[in-house]
Amino acid sequence: MTAHLLTLPDSPALALALSIRAKALLFHDPRSLALLHQIERLARTEATVLLVGETGTGKELVARHVHQLSGRSGPFVAVNCGAFSEQLIDAELFGHEAGAYTGAAGARAGWFEAANGGTLFLDEIGDLPLALQVKLLRVLQERQVVRLGARRPVALDVRLVAATNVDLQRAVQAQHFRADLYYRLNVAPLALPPLRERQGDILPLARHFIGVYGPKLGLAHARLAPEAQAALLQHAWPGNIRELENVVHFALIVCRDGLVRREDLRLVGPAMTASAGGRPAPAQLPPLDAPPDAQERLAALFDTLLAERTPALYPLVEETLVRCAYEACNENQVRSARLLGVTRNTLRTLLKRHGLLVDALPHPGDDVLPAETDDHAKMSQAAATVRGPMSPGALRHEQPHP
Ligand SMILES: Nc1ncnc2c1ncn2[C@@H]1O[C@H](COP(=O)(O)OP(=O)(O)OP(=O)(O)O)[C@@H](O)[C@H]1O
Ligand SMILES: [Mg+2]
Repeated sequence: MTAHLLTLPDSPALALALSIRAKALLFHDPRSLALLHQIERLARTEATVLLVGETGTGKELVARHVHQLSGRSGPFVAVNCGAFSEQLIDAELFGHEAGAYTGAAGARAGWFEAANGGTLFLDEIGDLPLALQVKLLRVLQERQVVRLGARRPVALDVRLVAATNVDLQRAVQAQHFRADLYYRLNVAPLALPPLRERQGDILPLARHFIGVYGPKLGLAHARLAPEAQAALLQHAWPGNIRELENVVHFALIVCRDGLVRREDLRLVGPAMTASAGGRPAPAQLPPLDAPPDAQERLAALFDTLLAERTPALYPLVEETLVRCAYEACNENQVRSARLLGVTRNTLRTLLKRHGLLVDALPHPGDDVLPAETDDHAKMSQAAATVRGPMSPGALRHEQPHP
């Protein structure tokens, strides 16, 4: 057994070998929240989960979370498939009887057996030698394992979570990965977006790591200077969350007076460009107090609602949006229209469609009409007021994970 091999979180002796240093998970950006919901749904099933993401995006942390949420009472066993020779991983995964090969003095259970009743995390599954891919497939199909040199199979109750930072489909095309195993593993794929594509996570994660490392360095109330925040948001983070964690840790060591300044951040490599993750170059980024990327946030929310098969989503979204804007503007049509970026006529059509307008007295909050509205609209607008109760929570506001 080597140090990179496995991580058994419940074993204090092995805790030191954990590659995961800060164990708390943080999901703040809407894309991450959508991911969290997906994780929560999948965790409770028996489905094999395939985590796909660049290095440092949190695949191992998510694998542990899947195990925790699954309610399985057995252990979480993590195996790095890239860390062994072919013969060694064979024996490690499937176990062996005494004398099964030179040097196998006693019988030993493999990692599959060790994970019985729990979860087996096969990290860097793309590095698994082809010969072992066949064996793995057989184990997954038959739900039993035969130790090297043994005859009798051992029945398995193991949840499998695999992770890769290589494109397995391409590996299949290049014949480095078996197509049948790929389809077997790809039952429930979970894509972990790179940090540059979930900008809303950057500052909360930075503060989270300040909270983790600050007290250890005697900095109970360390904080980020505004120009340091801007630099963090503009960096492309090729090493993702692990890189951010290291940058914050180092900055806390070198900063003065508990204030992390731009010059304390050791940011290596590219800043954000249009080609990096398809996001705008730093010069075109919205101001810091603007929402990082409204379209991305909406897409994440809609992905969740679509996945939940929310009925009549389109009218629901329209109605909720109009209601929210109208309420936020104290039922003032001109300001509501401006807020939504539509003409007053369009707004009125929408208000009527969703039963929010009745012909009645003018609303005291309404002010002058914009140039694009016609006289007829002016007249009917003057007679408009609101009716109908707000339907609470139609568009759910996702809370960050504690
Ligand atoms: N959502 C998160 N909240 C807080 N910390 C996180 C989160 N995701 C990842 N981290 C931190 O980032 C680091 C990298 O996470 P992890 O090892 O799970 O990534 P990985 O995708 O397995 O990386 P690799 O592909 O290099 O093995 C860890 O130290 C972990 O503490
Ligand atoms: Mg990992």
